[in-house]
Amino acid sequence: MLSIAEKDLGTPKRESAELVTLTIDGQEVTVPAGTSVMRAAALSDVKIPKLCATEQLEAFGSCRLCLVQIEGMKGLPASCTTPVAPGMKVTTQNKQLADIRRGVMELYISDHPLDCLTCPANGHCELQDMAGVVGLREVRYGYEGANHLSAEKDTSNPYFTFDASKCIVCSRCVRACDEQQGTFALTIQNRGFESTVSASQNVPFMDSECVSCGACVQACPTATLSEKSLIENGQAEHSITTTCAYCGVGCSFRAEMKGEEVVRMVPNMDGHANHGHSCVKGRFAIGYATHSDRIVKPMIRSKITDPWREVSWEEAIGYAASELKRIQATYGRDSIGGITSSRCTNEETYLVQKLVRAGFGNNNVDTCARVCHSPTGYGLKNTLGESAGTQNFDSVMKADVIFVIGANPTDGHPVFASQMKRRLRQGAKLIVADPRRIDLVRTPHIEAEQHLKLRPGTNVALINSLAHVIVAEGLVKEDFVRARCEMPSFEKWRNFVAQERNSPEAMEAVTGVPAADVRAAARLYATGGNGAIYYGLGVTEHSQGSTMVMGIANLAMATGNVGREGVGVNPLRGQNNVQGSCDMGSFPHEFPGYRHVSDDSVRALFEDAWGMKLLGEPGLRIPNMFEAALDGEFKGLYIEGEDIAQSDPNTQHVTAALTSMECIIVQDLFLNESAKFAHVFLPGSSFLEKDGTFTNAERRISPVRKVMKPKSGYADWEITQLLSNAVGYPMNYTHPSEIMDEIARLTPTFTGVSFDRIDELGSIQWPCNAEHPEGTPTMHIGEFVRGKGKFLVTEYVPTAEKVNARYPLILTTGRILSQYNVGAQTRRTENNAWHDEDRLEIHPQDAEDRGIAEGDWVGIESRAGDTVLRARVTERVQPGVVYTTFHFPESGANVITTDNSDWATNCPEYKVTAVQAVRVSQPSEWQKRFREFSETQETLLKSAADVMFVAK
Ligand code: SF4
Ligand code: SF4
Ligand code: SF4
Ligand code: FES
Repeated sequence: MLSIAEKDLGTPKRESAELVTLTIDGQEVTVPAGTSVMRAAALSDVKIPKLCATEQLEAFGSCRLCLVQIEGMKGLPASCTTPVAPGMKVTTQNKQLADIRRGVMELYISDHPLDCLTCPANGHCELQDMAGVVGLREVRYGYEGANHLSAEKDTSNPYFTFDASKCIVCSRCVRACDEQQGTFALTIQNRGFESTVSASQNVPFMDSECVSCGACVQACPTATLSEKSLIENGQAEHSITTTCAYCGVGCSFRAEMKGEEVVRMVPNMDGHANHGHSCVKGRFAIGYATHSDRIVKPMIRSKITDPWREVSWEEAIGYAASELKRIQATYGRDSIGGITSSRCTNEETYLVQKLVRAGFGNNNVDTCARVCHSPTGYGLKNTLGESAGTQNFDSVMKADVIFVIGANPTDGHPVFASQMKRRLRQGAKLIVADPRRIDLVRTPHIEAEQHLKLRPGTNVALINSLAHVIVAEGLVKEDFVRARCEMPSFEKWRNFVAQERNSPEAMEAVTGVPAADVRAAARLYATGGNGAIYYGLGVTEHSQGSTMVMGIANLAMATGNVGREGVGVNPLRGQNNVQGSCDMGSFPHEFPGYRHVSDDSVRALFEDAWGMKLLGEPGLRIPNMFEAALDGEFKGLYIEGEDIAQSDPNTQHVTAALTSMECIIVQDLFLNESAKFAHVFLPGSSFLEKDGTFTNAERRISPVRKVMKPKSGYADWEITQLLSNAVGYPMNYTHPSEIMDEIARLTPTFTGVSFDRIDELGSIQWPCNAEHPEGTPTMHIGEFVRGKGKFLVTEYVPTAEKVNARYPLILTTGRILSQYNVGAQTRRTENNAWHDEDRLEIHPQDAEDRGIAEGDWVGIESRAGDTVLRARVTERVQPGVVYTTFHFPESGANVITTDNSDWATNCPEYKVTAVQAVRVSQPSEWQKRFREFSETQETLLKSAADVMFVAK
C-alpha cells in the first residue's frame, strides 16, 4: 500500500503553457512555469526531504528540511517555495545540505516523545521517515531543557485526537483548514518556541468552528492529529477504493482495512469529484454499518400487530413472492409496485425497476427522487434536452459569478462547497437567493455580493424579475440565442418577461426582495463573465418546482451561460445516487436513459432484451400509490432502501396508506419507520458490502467496491434477484458488472460504460459512448442535446398554501452537515455530538411576540397536523419564516408538511407550509402516538431472537 507521503510531489501542480527546462542533480527536467523546484525534482524521481510541504497545500517554507543549492543563488533556498527558472542548476544532495538537514531533524526530535513503537502513526509518520532519510543517528540535546512533552491532549472531537506533545508546528493542519476546507478554524498562536496550534481562540476542537472534515488530520505529518479508529485498531493491512454513500458529491475514498474491519476512510487524492477532500460524514460516519441495530436476518409476520418471526431467506422470499402473487390474483395486476432506492447502486436500482416492469408486469415503480429532484428532470429535459446538470464540479474554478439558488452547499454538499469557497476566495462573485441566511452568505474571506432573501414560495416571481432586467436592459447574449436556441420560443419568452408586471419593482411586493438588489444581481450574472448557477431542493420542492427549473434554464440560455466550462445549470443532488436512480428508469413513465414507456421502438428494445411484453402506459407515482391504497386498489409494495414513512410529506396520510396495504416488503439495514408497517423484512447490505456504481450530481459514475462480506449473506442486488425468480421472472446475474453490461447495451448514453472502463478511468461522466469514449464533463457544447435550446414561459402562480391569521408563519425545511436525510445512518454514529435533535429556527421578533425563548418547547401546527420542537431563536431566518431540519423521526417535520406538490411531477412542496407556533409544555398528540407505536414495534422486533447484528 503506497503511503500518501510516498506519492506526494510536495507542492501543488501548476498549469502553464510556458515550459521551463532546468537541471537537477545533473538531470534535465522540463516542467510548466511556476512549478516548484521540489515538485520538478519529484517528477524526475529525485526525492528532497520535506516536512512542512505537501502536494495538497501551497508551500509555506517553515521546516527548512528541503534546502537545496542553486548555482548563482545566495544561501540555500527552500526547494518547496522556490519556483523553477530556465537554465537553473540545482544540487539536492551534498555534505553541507546533509549536515543542515540532520541538524534540523535533531532539533525536532529533541522535543518529541520517542514512543515510536507505541505511536499510532508508527509506519506512516513523516517525521520518522525523514529521520531515516537524513540519517539521524543520535540526538545530542537531552530532555532537560524546556520542551512540549507534557502538553495536554485534546480528545473532544469524537473522531480524532490532538496530541500537542507530538506537534512540530509545521502548520500543515492550519493550511489544510484554510485552503482545502475553507473553515479557518485553526491558527498558530504565539511565536518561536511558544508556537502552538490552536483551534479558534484556544478552545477544544469541539467548541471551535471546526466542522470535523478531517483535512487537518490527513495533512498532519506526525501523530499529533490522529483518527481515534486508527489509535484503536492499528495500521491497516490493505485498502480498496470505493465511493462515499452519503451525498451527491460522490467523494472517492480508500477504505483502509484490517481483514474485514475498516480502520479508516481516507479521501482519494485521485478522486475526480473530491481531489483528496471529504466531510465528516464520508470520512468518519461509517459506524452505522456495524451498528447493533442492524437487522441481519430475514423476518416475516402476517399483520403489523404481530411479533416478527425470524425465518430463513428461502421462507422470507417465498412468503413475499406468494403474497405479491396472491394480491395480484385478487386485486389485479396493478395492485402492487416497487420503490427503488437512491442510496443503492445503479445496478440494484436497475434490477428493482426491471422486476416491477417485467416481473410484476406493470410500471408501478417510483423513487425518492419524486420528492426531491423530479422537477429537475422535467425542467431541464424540456429546455436543454437532458435531465441532468451540465458541468463537472471542477468547472466552478472557471466561474466568475456563482449564483446559488435554494441550496445550502456547506451543509448539503460540503466538499463541493469547499471547492466553491476556494474559487470565491480567488475573487469570483457570489449571489445567493435563499429565504434563510445560509453560511455561504458570510464566511471567512467570503461575502455574497447579493443575498436575495426572498419569501418562501416566490422563486418563479424572482426568476422572472431577474429575466425582466436582462431583457429590458439589453443584456441578452443575442448571438448565442440566435445561434443556439429556438427563436420563436425565445421571442415568446422575451415578450412575456418584458411585461411590466414581471419587473423587480412590481414583484417586490411578492418576493420581498428590494428591486434594486434584483437589478444588481441580474446585471452581475449577465455581465460578470462566466455565470454558473447551482441550485438545490429550495428550487424543486415547490408547487412550481418544474417552472423554476425551466426559469433557471431560460436565464442561462439568454445570457449565453451554457455549453462551456465555468458556466451552466447545476442541480446539487441530495443523496449519493439520486442521479443514478433517475438514470436507471426508476420513474413510472421512463425506461433507463429517460425514454418514455409509450415509445414503441424503445419498448420493443426492452421487450426483446427482457423476453417479456411490457406495458406502454405509465404506472403509479408514489403519491398515486398512496391514493390507490386508501381507495383499496393498491395492496402490495416492495421498498428497497427508502423510508417513505419518514421522508414523504403529510405523514399521517402516508401511514394511513401503508396501514391499508396487505403486504409491504421492506429491504433495509434497520427497522426504519416504513418497516414498522411491513410484513416482510429483508435485511439489506451497506455500501461496504457490495460491488456496483453510484452516479453523482455531475453525472459521474464511480465505483463502489465490496470491502467486506454482506452481513446478512446477500448484497441488495442478489435479494432482488431472488425475489424476481420467486415471482416467476428469472434473473441469473452472477456479478453486478453483468447488470451494468446490460444497462450499457440498452441505454445510448451508457454504451461505453463497463466496470473495466470505470476501473481504467477512475470514474466516467455520462454520456459515454462512441462519440464520447471517455465521458462528457461539459454538456451542450456547440449544440443542446435537444438540438436548439427551448425557452418556456414561466408564469408565476402563487402557491395554494397561504398564510392567514390562523397560520401566520411559513415553515421551510433543510439539512444540516452532520446528519443525512432521514438520519437512519448518521443517527447511528457519533455525528449526534453535533446535532442530536431537530430544532425550530424562529426570528427573535416572532419569538418575542409569542413569548418563546431559546430552548423552549414550541408547538407547530399546520393544516396537515402538528408537532413539537425546541426553539432556536436566530436572525438566520427572516421574520414570518420558521425553519427546521428533518433528520429525526420523532420531530415529525413531515406531519406538518402538506399534500401540495409540483404541478408537473408531484414533487412535494416541502419548502412552504403555513403554520402557527406557540409555546407548549408537552409533546403533540401525534408524537405521543408515534412513541407508543414505535415502542410497540420495538417490542415486536425483540420477539424475533438474534436478528440484530452483534459487533465483535
Ligand atoms: S498538528 Fe500536525 S500538521 Fe499541525 S502543526 Fe502540528 S504537526 Fe503540523
Ligand atoms: S477537521 Fe477540518 S474544519 Fe476541523 S480543524 Fe481540521 S481541517 Fe479545520
Ligand atoms: S461531501 Fe458528500 S460524498 Fe463527500 S464525503 Fe461528504 S457526504 Fe460523502
Ligand atoms: S518542506 Fe520546504 S521548508 Fe519545509
